[in-house]
Amino acid sequence: MIRFAVIGAGGIADRRTIPAMIKSPECELVAVMEQIESVAKAVGEKYNVPYFLDEEEMLNSIECDAVYIATPVFCHYEQVMKALAFNKHVLVEKPLCLSADQGEQMVNAFKKAGKQLTVGYMMKYHSLHQKAKELIAADGIGEIVDIRAQFSCWYPDIEGAWRQNKKLGGGGAFMDLGVHCVELIEDLLNEEMVEIKALCNTRTFSYEVEDSAVMIFRTQSGILGHIDVNFNIPDRACQSKLELYGTKGYIICTGTLAQEEGGTLCHLYSPQEDYAALQNDRAAQKPMEYEGEGSDLYQKQLELFCAAVESDTHDYSYTDRAVHVQRIVEKVYNN
Ligand SMILES: NC(=O)c1ccc[n+]([C@@H]2O[C@H](COP(=O)([O-])OP(=O)(O)OC[C@H]3O[C@@H](n4cnc5c(N)ncnc54)[C@H](O)[C@@H]3O)[C@@H](O)[C@H]2O)c1
Repeated sequence: MIRFAVIGAGGIADRRTIPAMIKSPECELVAVMEQIESVAKAVGEKYNVPYFLDEEEMLNSIECDAVYIATPVFCHYEQVMKALAFNKHVLVEKPLCLSADQGEQMVNAFKKAGKQLTVGYMMKYHSLHQKAKELIAADGIGEIVDIRAQFSCWYPDIEGAWRQNKKLGGGGAFMDLGVHCVELIEDLLNEEMVEIKALCNTRTFSYEVEDSAVMIFRTQSGILGHIDVNFNIPDRACQSKLELYGTKGYIICTGTLAQEEGGTLCHLYSPQEDYAALQNDRAAQKPMEYEGEGSDLYQKQLELFCAAVESDTHDYSYTDRAVHVQRIVEKVYNN
């Protein structure tokens, strides 16, 4: 069992990851640290663990194997490095940090120390994304020729919100939502995006980061695709779509770019030989439809993290990818 201390306990930690830790037989929550005293106390009491207001004090006072960090992005670099200085394995929330150079420094330090560093891109563990991977590998849609991801939420002006401040969050909709899409698409294809063009806009709200971004890409093997992310589409209008089209069919995931393992995957395998000028064969074949398993993505992520810590043979390919995702973010904002 891996003993976890948490830094930044009030947001996603309390909503998703700590409950997943409590459920998992592989994890033990031993302490929480938070900058807001009332939150630290409430979370500590809720889970019956000691709470701290300072991470060094916590790491000096308790015994743990790993630290889960779920603070605003601008805090990640310093806190991840501090946890490593205490010889801990780290699960840090996405995105890894503010810049790819910072990310590279962090990953190199973990490699050197032989410690696990995992970044919280949990969407690749969704059963329907795993199914999409299987279908792609089995030639289920032929040669992939077009990919589209659309991910959104409603995020209006909120005074003091760190995500709406470029220095604290590093960016807006792309930094927050687009990174999930990049990481997931590269995982599905097992190849990198190499050419990027993007447009960002702050159209609806008055914060300084973008509320809308459209990015187009070309992968190493030449697949073209695009990612659209928005903070200005109502949650009830969010489709959270991931679409892959190939020379023999499609895979369309709806509602799978999400915190819960729901949604559907529709798979159509329907190769076509001849040119049909009438193009009237479009609804001829019904796709196969699959549903999400409904398991807890955060628990899956935690258990894979625990297995990596316990095996002591660290595979840094996902960690390296998280740095590469930061490079893509920089291209989106600087092109
Ligand atoms: N993987 C996911 O599904 C997912 C979902 C939401 C957020 N996130 C990521 O999690 C991280 C946190 O996001 P959030 O939505 O929980 O933010 P949040 O603002 O809701 O919560 C962050 C918590 O950290 C605390 N905090 C701030 N500065 C701190 C510091 N220096 N030391 C200790 N605690 C501090 C805040 O008081 C707050 O309780 C971000 O990196 C975000 O991108 C991931």
